[in-house]
Amino acid sequence: MDFERMWRDLEPLGRSAASGGYFRQPFGAAERECMAWYVEECVRRGLSLEHDGNGNAIAWWRPEGVTGKGVVTGSHLDSVLDGGAFDGPLGVVSGLAAYDVLRDRGLTPSRPIGFGVFVEEEGSRFGLACLGSRLATGAITPAAARELRDREGVALLDAMASTGLEPALGPSRLLDEIGTFVELHVEQGRDLVLRDRPIGVASAIWPHGRYRFEVEGEANHAGTTRMEDRRDPMLTYAMTALAANKQARLGEGPRATFGRLQVEPNGTNAVPSKVTAWLDARCATEAELDELIATITRLGEDRAGRDGTSLSMTPESVSPAVDFDAALAGRLSESLDAAPIIPTQAGHDAGILSATGIPTAMLFVRNPTGVSHSPAEFAETADCIAGVTALADVLEELAG
Ligand code: HGY
Ligand code: MN
Ligand code: MN
Repeated sequence: MDFERMWRDLEPLGRSAASGGYFRQPFGAAERECMAWYVEECVRRGLSLEHDGNGNAIAWWRPEGVTGKGVVTGSHLDSVLDGGAFDGPLGVVSGLAAYDVLRDRGLTPSRPIGFGVFVEEEGSRFGLACLGSRLATGAITPAAARELRDREGVALLDAMASTGLEPALGPSRLLDEIGTFVELHVEQGRDLVLRDRPIGVASAIWPHGRYRFEVEGEANHAGTTRMEDRRDPMLTYAMTALAANKQARLGEGPRATFGRLQVEPNGTNAVPSKVTAWLDARCATEAELDELIATITRLGEDRAGRDGTSLSMTPESVSPAVDFDAALAGRLSESLDAAPIIPTQAGHDAGILSATGIPTAMLFVRNPTGVSHSPAEFAETADCIAGVTALADVLEELAG
């Protein structure tokens, strides 16, 4: 299998010399290089590449006379800003390496097997998580997607066209060919480390969302304006962030993160006129998530009342709870030496496909530190190889 050679080829693409992290934003140069790498590897294997108008692709292994819905494995090549090497690409490289293993085993599958890539899974450029798979499944309409802009104001369609793609947004016929979907992903947590197991199977994805908080205040001089005379949106934001942190710590495991902030005019010697902050929140149930967001918003509005500012909250990307096909998860766990079946708080394209009723599973590869969405993200090569073998076993089991 070619895993290590493929990994070496892919690794430098989009990596920052300063941080060692990755900037593979969709339809940007680095991510397009990664896509070109994927196409080349598929062509090298004689796979039949099919693209949809959303930027997604599936490369098929359809031996003579093997037709009908297939088993597809895939993930994403885009990254968060300054992200890790494994989140996404590990699933794509492992799929192609698993193909090599199956060919070495002399397998002729009874169902087609596909190797896919979904675009903009992270939502790091256009703000909506799993944009490619949501477009393909109809979870977002083309009209809503056409409204999406990146931070420079570039529209999705323009970004796609700038790479030479001819966008045709909307439900994708690629999905008509998928009978079962399996995504392999680096674990984003330490569950497998704690269990001392290299491979896990996903049971569920927590509901989670991204919410934009806009606080309007009054720009003024940082020196000549008395503290009691200010209407400072930064103060309202800071107290809202503290409230979010406190509320998340009150429950059993909720997460609340303000990781992105925009200050206008962002001057050093002026009270800001406006602060925009994005909250990422995740809970074990949708009811808890709704309650957490409502509480944080209420506390922020109360604070705004005291500060003389105004606060508004807009959901930008909401992902419902996902329960993967339990029978499929059990079957895969059994075939993988009773691999643990564990939930995740990270969203995935597999979750979007599962929501459309496609029998879907996920395999996790142990992450020694659990760190992700960071240049420090890591997985041991031995565990990655174990992941390839596990994926090959699963594909053989499902399409053998
Ligand atoms: O943010 C997430 O949960 C995933 O990594 N896209
Ligand atoms: Mn991610
Ligand atoms: Mn991912």
